[in-house]
Amino acid sequence: MPDPATMADALRSEMVRVQKEIDRAFDATLPVPDDSRRPLVEAMRHATIGGGKRLRPLLLIETARILGVDRDCAIRAACALEAIHAYSLIHDDLPCMDDDAMRHGKPSVHKAFGEATAVLAGDALQTYAFALLADHQATGDSFVRIELVRCLARAAGHQGMAGGQMMDMAAEGATLGLPTITRMQQRKTGALLEAAVEMGAILGHLPDEGRLHLRGYAHDIGLAFQIADDLLDAQGDAQLAGKTLRKDDAAGKQTFLTLLGAERAREQATMLADQAVGHLAHYGKEADMLRALARFIVEREY
Ligand code: IPE
Ligand code: IPE
Ligand code: MG
Ligand code: MG
Ligand code: MG
Repeated sequence: MPDPATMADALRSEMVRVQKEIDRAFDATLPVPDDSRRPLVEAMRHATIGGGKRLRPLLLIETARILGVDRDCAIRAACALEAIHAYSLIHDDLPCMDDDAMRHGKPSVHKAFGEATAVLAGDALQTYAFALLADHQATGDSFVRIELVRCLARAAGHQGMAGGQMMDMAAEGATLGLPTITRMQQRKTGALLEAAVEMGAILGHLPDEGRLHLRGYAHDIGLAFQIADDLLDAQGDAQLAGKTLRKDDAAGKQTFLTLLGAERAREQATMLADQAVGHLAHYGKEADMLRALARFIVEREY
């Protein structure tokens, strides 16, 4: 097993590579029209190009790479997933939700383009995601295309991210127990991270019974990821994070921190990352990047 510092370096350069690939793909597929729709597409580009860690794309592309999938196919599917993520952030930042003025180190979409355009940009990114997947360029196998669409739709909708966002809002000011908070975080954030791995497995034609370990890995990093995000809100550096922090407590958000305190929440995140790595035990060095990613998710400062 390579030493952790070497893997962290390899992960950093892979992150930069994927960031460039995803930027290029959005740039190529979202040309700005020369008519009154211009602000809409500019808002979509503002949300999708030149920002974000691209962790979901990286997870998808890495899983697909392990399974021998063509990289361009993986990038296209990753772009679809990232479009859903970007839409979720546009809406999450709206005044009617978290009311946040900064994202990716720049003004959030409604600050730059106004609320109505921000709502439309989120809507349009959502349908754009499914258009990318449904197109024959995604993969020549129409069965795989349908599986990808089904997987992403489930992860994004009321059973996944949107459902979790509803639970997050409904919980403001309430006192929830650990099982309810876990269920909320798993939908709100875990669902799209799990979809990243699942979409990689779908592209790789991995049979259902072969996905068990990958699903265990994705489930654990999904939870660990949101704990790390909540810790960042409480303890992180806004400059590094590129978004406004120290808001969850005042907004009455229910997180692992409200329940466990920062120290135990961090322990829990580390335990989940270890557990995630444990799920990869029967993979060899081809899964080292996924292992490094699990560590990065809980140690990150942005
Ligand atoms: C932030 O996700 C929102 C959550 C789901 C917690 P990321 O931290 O992955 O967002 P970016 O795209 O990298 O900024
Ligand atoms: C957002 O969670 C999760 C989404 C589905 C967008 P947060 O509200 O904690 O994300 P940040 O902290 O604003 O990035
Ligand atoms: Mg939120
Ligand atoms: Mg938010
Ligand atoms: Mg947060």
